[in-house]
Order: sequence, then structure tokens, then C-alpha cells
Amino acid sequence: MSEEIRKGLVGVVADRTAISEIDPETSSLLYRGYAVEELAARCTFEEVAYLLWHGELPTRLQLLEMEGEGRAQRAMDERVRTAVDLLPTTAHPMEVLRTAVSVIGATDPYAGDRSSDYAKAVRLLSQIPPVIAYDQRRRRGLPVVPPRPDLGFVENFLHMTFGRVPAPVVVDAFRISLILYAEHSFNASTFTARVITSTLSDLYSAVVGAIGALKGPLHGGANEAVMDTLEEIGDASRTLAWLDETLAARRRVMGFGHRVYKKGDPRVPTMRAALGRLVEHYERHDVLDLYTSLERAMAERTGIAPNLDYPSGPAYHLMGFDTRLFTPLLVAARVTGWTAHVMEQAADNTLIRPLADYVGAEERHVAEHDG
Ligand code: CMC
Repeated sequence: MSEEIRKGLVGVVADRTAISEIDPETSSLLYRGYAVEELAARCTFEEVAYLLWHGELPTRLQLLEMEGEGRAQRAMDERVRTAVDLLPTTAHPMEVLRTAVSVIGATDPYAGDRSSDYAKAVRLLSQIPPVIAYDQRRRRGLPVVPPRPDLGFVENFLHMTFGRVPAPVVVDAFRISLILYAEHSFNASTFTARVITSTLSDLYSAVVGAIGALKGPLHGGANEAVMDTLEEIGDASRTLAWLDETLAARRRVMGFGHRVYKKGDPRVPTMRAALGRLVEHYERHDVLDLYTSLERAMAERTGIAPNLDYPSGPAYHLMGFDTRLFTPLLVAARVTGWTAHVMEQAADNTLIRPLADYVGAEERHVAEHDG
């Protein structure tokens, strides 16, 4: 049996999906048939969420209806806030968010009702940003900012985090990042959500599990690790020496490489362009110098291309988010894809339960002993 083992399920096609398509050969990513860069150029984040959930872009009326449902649920539930307040600020924001989503689920009397999964997805999409915004603000000793129902999802998220809606270029870069992060086929966290759903567990449990999977630095945690790396290097003049040392120690450079895309991540050019606009806006050419120096050095030394986390990390930094908040931002976007997969899995379910090739001790017996 051992010859059939594909460690890490590399190259294994585990199921069918109609939600997104990755083509590593052409380096393309389509959501429901639309190229992600086209969606990022032309759509709001809410439209993309609707597309992922329903399979089609919304009409004006459908969008208004979905936005109405979402906007009405933007305030943080007091029970969620109490739970967050119980957690020390030494807890990683992903741990805080994982706990908050668990509380959101536990306070939903219909948590186990499969027929209301779509309503739950809209609820989570609305309730995750206030938790992230509140967590950043409490860590900075700042008061909570109430939501504004007159604002779109992206503007309101930034308003609740920073107490104001920033310049359009910043809002736009944030919108683009959320669209690019929204969905990515059978990545580790989405697969986790599908495994949990396959046991007939509820949508909230699937999202809590997905958050746990996303936290790791080989997955979503890479965007914050990118910022740590750029800060550790400090200056473009030190990049090559840092990289040689890192590669010699066989350490991974965060934000580079991908399990599926070996010719480059199609999301990078769009996010890189948004980062460029932020650099101009904030007049932080030092950030771009550092960014470019590591990208070049990696190409020269390893030929490994950056993934989406590489431009999104410094973009979130320039926007003013704390580094530890970067992966929660990915959750705020990816919850759309996760919940679309939960609904797809539930609609045509088979328990996901692979086999293992046992390589432990031969059968043996407990020796007779006293007591
Ligand atoms: N830095 C240095 N070397 C690397 C890197 C990297 N970032 N990525 C791959 N390599 C090397 C790796 O050491 C290996 O070399 P060797 O064969 O000599 O041991 C070779 O490239 C192949 O790597 P692999 O681990 O077999 O490839 P994989 O498909 O299992 O890994 C990955 C994919 C994302 C885990 C890996 O590229 C990595 O660790 N990257 C850094 C973490 C990161 O940025 N993660 C975010 C991924 S994108 C967001 C998402 O979809 O979640």
C-alpha cells in the first residue's frame, strides 16, 4: 500500500468543485468562471461574496437584499465582546478570532440547521470585521467604533478599525486584497472546512476549524511572517546577505513559493500594483525598495516566485494594521470561500475519511504483570 501514499495529498484530486478553478499551467485563478483579476478590477467585495455563494454575480436588487441583511448585523454581539475581553492581549488575534467565531456559533440557536447555512454565512461575513477591528483597537487602548450602516463592507471595516474612512486609494487596495483572498479551491483551510462539514457538523464548527488551519505560517500565517521578514532585513542593502544566510540555514522565505502555482501566483500582479499605489500615497518608497530587493534576490538565488502574501503583507502594514492582524484579515475575506465550500460539500456529502498505511509495531501482547 505504501507506494500509493501521496504525503501532503500532493497532486491528489479529492473531489469536484464548481466554486473556483486553478490552472497552474497558465497561472490562472477563476471564481465561478471569472478571472480573479477581472473581478478585482470591476467588482465590489460584496458582489464577489455573492458570486461565490450563488454562482452568479448579483443583480442590483439581489445585491441590495444581501447588503441589507449584512449591514443589519454589523454590531458586535455583547456576548462576543465579553468573550474577547476575557482573552489576554498576549493571545494571538487568530486565537481571539477563532474564539469569537465559536461564540458567534454557540449563540445562534439555529447553528445546526443546515437550511440556514447561507444566512449564517452572511452573518459571519458581517460579524468577523467588528471582532478584528475591536481587537486591534483594544490592543492600542482605543475605544470601540460603532458600525456605519451607510457604508459598504470595505469602508465600514476600515472605519471600525481606524475610526475614519481612509483615502480612496487605501479603500481600493483593501477591497482588492479581500477579493484576491476570498477563495482558493482546496487549500488547507478550505479542505479542513469540508472535512468538518462531511461529518455533518455545523457551519460555524467548519469555520472555526478552518481558522485553526489558516493560522499556520505555511498557509495564511505567511502574510504576517512576510512583514516580520521585511522588518528583520530592515534595509534593501542587507537583503542579499540575509537571504544567503536564510537559505544556507535551510529556512523558508515567507511569501514565496506555492504548492499549486509553480510558474507564479496569478493574484500577485494585481496586489503588487495596489501596493505600488499605496507606496506612492504614503510616500514609503523604502518599503518598495525592500520588497523589490527580496523579490529579485529570491529570483536570482532560487527562481521561486512570490505568492499573494508577499505584496499583501506590506500593503496591510502601510494601511495601518498591526502585523498580527494580517491573517485575521484573510479570514474576513476567505470566510466567503469557506462557507461556499461548506454549502457545496453539504449539498452532495460523503464523509471524508482517508486510509493510513500502518508502519508501527507488529501485533504484540501485554506481558503479565502485577496490578
Ligand atoms: N523559501 C525557500 N525555499 C522554498 C520556499 C520558500 N518560501 N518554498 C519552496 N522552497 C523550496 C523547498 O525548500 C524545496 O527545496 P528542496 O527540494 O531543495 O527541499 C522546494 O522549494 C520545493 O518545496 P516544497 O516544500 O516541496 O513545495 P511545497 O509545494 O510543499 O511548498 C509552500 C509550498 C507554500 C509550503 C512553500 O513554498 C513554503 O513553505 N512557502 C513559504 C510559506 C508561504 O509563503 N506560505 C503561503 C502560501 S500561499 C497562501 C496560501 O495559499 O495559503
